[in-house]
Amino acid sequence: MLFWRVKPLDKILETAEKKSLKRQLGALQLTLLGIGAVIGTGIFVLTAEAGQKAGPGLMVAFIIAAIVCALAALAYAELASMVPVSGSAYTYTYGVLGELLAWIVGWALVLEYAVAAGAVAVGWSGYMNGLLESAGYGLPLYLKVGIQGGGSFNLLACLIALVITGLLVLGTSKSAWVNAVLVTLKIAALILFIAIAVPAAQDENFKPFLPTGWGSPMGGVGVLGAAASIFFAYVGFDAVSTAAEETKNPNRNIPIGLIGSLAICTVFYLLVGYGAVGAVGAQPLLDAAGAAIPPGSKEFAAACALPANTDALVCSHEPLAHVLRVLGFPAWGNVIGIVAALALPTVVLMMIYGQTRIFFTMSRDGLLPGKLSTVHPKFHTPHVITIITGLFVAAFAALFPVGMLADISNSGTLFAFIMVSIGVLILRVKQPNRHRPFRTPLVWPVCILSILGCLLLFVNLSGYTIMLFFAWAAIGLVVYFAYGYRRSHMIPGNEPVDHAPGMPPEPKFHEGPQA
Ligand code: ALA
Repeated sequence: MLFWRVKPLDKILETAEKKSLKRQLGALQLTLLGIGAVIGTGIFVLTAEAGQKAGPGLMVAFIIAAIVCALAALAYAELASMVPVSGSAYTYTYGVLGELLAWIVGWALVLEYAVAAGAVAVGWSGYMNGLLESAGYGLPLYLKVGIQGGGSFNLLACLIALVITGLLVLGTSKSAWVNAVLVTLKIAALILFIAIAVPAAQDENFKPFLPTGWGSPMGGVGVLGAAASIFFAYVGFDAVSTAAEETKNPNRNIPIGLIGSLAICTVFYLLVGYGAVGAVGAQPLLDAAGAAIPPGSKEFAAACALPANTDALVCSHEPLAHVLRVLGFPAWGNVIGIVAALALPTVVLMMIYGQTRIFFTMSRDGLLPGKLSTVHPKFHTPHVITIITGLFVAAFAALFPVGMLADISNSGTLFAFIMVSIGVLILRVKQPNRHRPFRTPLVWPVCILSILGCLLLFVNLSGYTIMLFFAWAAIGLVVYFAYGYRRSHMIPGNEPVDHAPGMPPEPKFHEGPQA
């Protein structure tokens, strides 16, 4: 039952969108693509969260998360190049492990994409609120943060999610130059931060270096707990894996692009982490028993409200701008804020877009109602599923703190990467002769370490996050057995009639947005 209804890979490729993409990307373009997709809320916002979990040890957390990502990325790239179709890990799992596990992966990808979109929207609101405040138009606290963070309703995060949903319904198209400008701006902002903060670093701010230790399973603190959260800062590198079919000499260029972009981001993140910790300190706020207070909790909001902690890095919703303000460079702090405010919405857009794409594929397979993927007659976008997704994202963003959303998103992403790494190994055994435009180097050690690394991060998320993940998976199973189990297009007689009303044959997303 667990491994049933495996959809033959050839059938998946047959039903895939027929794209004939020119192999034109080289190692440099791929590296830039990766950097552009990766840098976002993680470094701009979650640095504070990681500080609360690990103190100065957040720098070690950045390295651990980068290694896990590099391993997972190498595995991901093999399947992405073999099965270059929409639906990513969901589709790969369908072709290797069968429908039930594919459904669970697709269900987990809702966390990866929709919840991540909420996290980035909240991250954006932190910087926007900071900018409004420095211009003298700050919103009251109850409209600045969600219910968990000591407020009521995060107005700006909700609004940005709704605006972006509207843009996606109207149809957006890829704009290479907007991408290039945003990547340049993000990198310039990080360089600016490093140039000011690193020289201001002081030795005593690194002591103690590991105030919360390494962490323990389900603890959500310590270096490993911080690594499990900061993993979010690297998500997006799969943009390189999925570009495999557009890449010249993929066996050489994909690993260079993946490892190159992850390595460059890691160096930036370490320098930013070093500058932030060294310049203003990042010691966690502790409770009466001496344990780190969970970031994003009501107790944490109360501790941050104490006058002694107003300048604490770990309390800031806009940590990079905050550091520059504390160092006496408010104007440069605002510049960082403006860059974050300009760049982060594209990440929200990419995430909601990715979610609609996965839902679309699942409904094309009969596991979700065909009505969900109805394409708008005028805008040619899957408006129904986009609006539903957007409303959920807006609700998460309005109510929950960024760290909680990022952790929940990571749980789904880590699960999906584990399944992908398992899938690569199974296919190497079952279909050794299938054409692989990209082959994972040292496939057994790389995939096994990727599985172990993702598991290590998964178990170091907080117990609450892990519980939510399993609750979500359980809901998914109920939905599957109530609907997809009987409606699956794998059942003879259930195959769709192309162009039937309510079931458009292929999505029309224009060219699709990119962050
Ligand atoms: N890596 C992306 C970010 O940090 C998801 O925003």
